[in-house]
This record gives sequence, C-alpha cells and structure tokens, in this order.
Amino acid sequence: MRLLIEHIGKIVGIQPVGKRRLCGAEMDRLETLDDAWLLCDGERIAAFGPASQPVPVADRVVDACGGMLFPSFCDSHTHLVYAGSREQEFVDKIHGLSYEEIARRGGGILNSADRLHETSEEELYRQAMERVREIAAMGTGCVEIKSGYGLSTADELKMLRVIRRIRGTAPLAVRATFLGAHAVARAYRGRQEEYVELICREMLPAVAAEGLAEFVDVFCDEGFFTVEQTARILREGAKYGLVPKIHANELAVSGGVQVGVEHDARSVDHLERMGGAEIEALRGTRTMPTLLPGAAFFLGMSYPPARAMIDAGLGVALASDYNPGSSPSGNMRMVCSLASIRMRMTPAEAFNAATLNGAYALGLEEDYGSITLGKIANFFLTKPMPSFEFFTYAYSTPLIARVFLRGEEFVA
Ligand code: NIG
Ligand code: FE
Repeated sequence: MRLLIEHIGKIVGIQPVGKRRLCGAEMDRLETLDDAWLLCDGERIAAFGPASQPVPVADRVVDACGGMLFPSFCDSHTHLVYAGSREQEFVDKIHGLSYEEIARRGGGILNSADRLHETSEEELYRQAMERVREIAAMGTGCVEIKSGYGLSTADELKMLRVIRRIRGTAPLAVRATFLGAHAVARAYRGRQEEYVELICREMLPAVAAEGLAEFVDVFCDEGFFTVEQTARILREGAKYGLVPKIHANELAVSGGVQVGVEHDARSVDHLERMGGAEIEALRGTRTMPTLLPGAAFFLGMSYPPARAMIDAGLGVALASDYNPGSSPSGNMRMVCSLASIRMRMTPAEAFNAATLNGAYALGLEEDYGSITLGKIANFFLTKPMPSFEFFTYAYSTPLIARVFLRGEEFVA
C-alpha cells in the first residue's frame, strides 16, 4: 500500500540517513521543508519532496490541508503499566507531605505494588492499553515501559508479560525495562541486601529466560538503592545482555550518573540534582542524559540543568515518566513546553530531545525519531499553524489533527 500525504504546509524534523543523535549546538537545528508531500510504501517512508516536484502516484491520498507533519514522539521513560491511581497522595502532597515522606509511610511505589498484586494480568493490560491509546493520540509512536510495581518475581513477570502483550497488539514500537530495583518490597523491609539478592538470583534469570526485557533499570537514589547495589544489579543484568538505563539523581546527588556511565548505560534519567562533576562524567560517552520535567513539575521540585548540559556539548532526551506517583501524564507535547518554559530549551531543542534523542535512548534511532528515507512512517499532522514554534507555545490548544503509525492512520 502506497500512502501519499499531500498539501503539507511544513515537514518538520528531517534528518539525513545515519544521524543517530544530536548533541550540544546541533540540538537547536531543526530541518524543515515547506509546501511538501510525503510518500509511505507499506510501513516505511519512501519519499518526500516539495510540491513543485512531481507528486507520486499512490493507492491512498490524504490531504494535510496545509497543516504541518512531525515525526512521532519517542517517549523513552514510562511506567505506564500500573493498577488504579494515586490521587490521594496528590492531596497529601498539597497538604504538605513530600514524595519521600509519602514513600516512608508505605505509600508511593509500595502502594502501587499492593494494588498491582491484586489486579489480574487481563485487567492490567486493559488499563495500560487505555494509556497507550491515549499517548498514541497525543503523538507518541515509540514508548519504553518499565516493570517495578511488582517487586516479587511473580508480579514483576506479570507486569513484563503485560508489556509483551502491548508490544504484540499496539501499533507503537514498545521497549521493555526490568525495574525490580524500584523500591524494596514490603516483605523485605529492613532486609535490603536480601532483596537485591532476590533480584540477582531469581528475578533477573526468570526475566531473561522468557526474554521479557531489553533494559535493566535501578532507582539509584537516597532512600532507595545504593551505588554498590546498582553496580551489582547492572553486572548481573549484563550477563543476560540487558542494557542499563538508570533512575539517577532525582532526590540527591546520588552517584547514579557515574555508575551508569561506568556500565555504559544507554541513558541516565531524571537528573534533577546535577553538579559539574556529573556533567563532566557524561561528556564523550554513549550515555544519553534523559530529563523528565513532568515529574519535576508534578512534585514541585527543581528542574534539571538542561541549559548547562547542552551548552557543555551534551545531547539530552526528554521523556514523560508517565506513572501514578510523580507524573500521571504521558503528554510529550506538554513535556516539550515545560522544557522550554522551565529549562530554557528552545522549541527546536525540545522537539529533537523528544524525538531523535529519545529514539537513541531506546536504541531505536535507526528506524524512528525523524523524517528520514527508509525509517518507519510514524508521524502526525497538525492543523495549520503560523510557525513550528507555535506547537510548543500554544501548549494546550488541540493542534494534532491526524496520527499515522507504521504507515497507517491511527484512530483512538
Ligand atoms: O520515575 N523515581 C522513581 N520512580 C518513579 C515514580 C514512581 C511512583 O511514584 O510510582 C519516577 O518518578
Ligand atoms: Fe521513572
């Protein structure tokens, strides 16, 4: 099937074949093409060009009506498989409790683990698919989903099987991360080392035996897992070919960035607490620092120093952190607006961070994250807009008109 999109006001986010990520000053460059058409052959982008060039023949023609065409967002950090919601903790926070205090009282991640334990795999899948459809309609075409609300071998496997089922049924590209080290399970309170032992001896081999994850993650932060425990879990994960992605430096300067870099993590994520040493540790590495401004916004925390990182020559990715406790939203456009408003990233930097650099953070940059010949045809069309920047500026105006995933129109 050949699908032609015609009367495109502007194609945004064009990259040459082989461009894998954008770093430093390159992040502010966003290549565009005005008055254009784009052709998909099956699930891939086959051609695009200006309206002045001959427009190819196709089986189906879609009129973009002068709107813009953007590559889909690549959301490289979510926890969107979870049971129920946690708005009571939201109210507790309004009354003055901090995220750490809620966690110490047995709320937070352990609260979600209790609910997940009581929820069937079928019901978990149903709830998660609602969120997957929601983010697809908001322009996301690749998503990473973590386990980490199971905290027992059986429940971690249950979560990862749900993620596998989503991967098999949703039109988005899905990557799975094993996050058994999200919190110490209630049954192991005060016995953290034994819980780490359980992760290494039982959970990791079971996850690997079923091939349920590509990545391994650890919440390396004050009150959660130490640098030494993180290193041990990453070493064990490496035996099964699991690539590290770390929750680092959200609550404290935790050493999470350095331990991630030492283990060649694909990404280190959060980074609300960064010093010069952390930025230096990331320079010249393959690790993508990934910022989650939706979590800083929701928890009322300080934002990561994106400007200093980009000005130091680093690339950064943006992701939603979609989860019930610190970021109950998977809206990547809102994430881009927050990045511009609160972290002084330009709309171009934010969009590149949320697309190509997000794809890199998932190891999917060869097939996703930009408008490039041969890549998977994941994109969305907007209503006509005065400029590309308008998309980030008018942050709540419903501007996304139509969504295409794998060369087919997605209808929520
Ligand atoms: O990325 N920081 C750790 N984990 C999640 C929050 C999970 C939760 O509160 O349920 C995060 O913010
Ligand atoms: Fe997270």
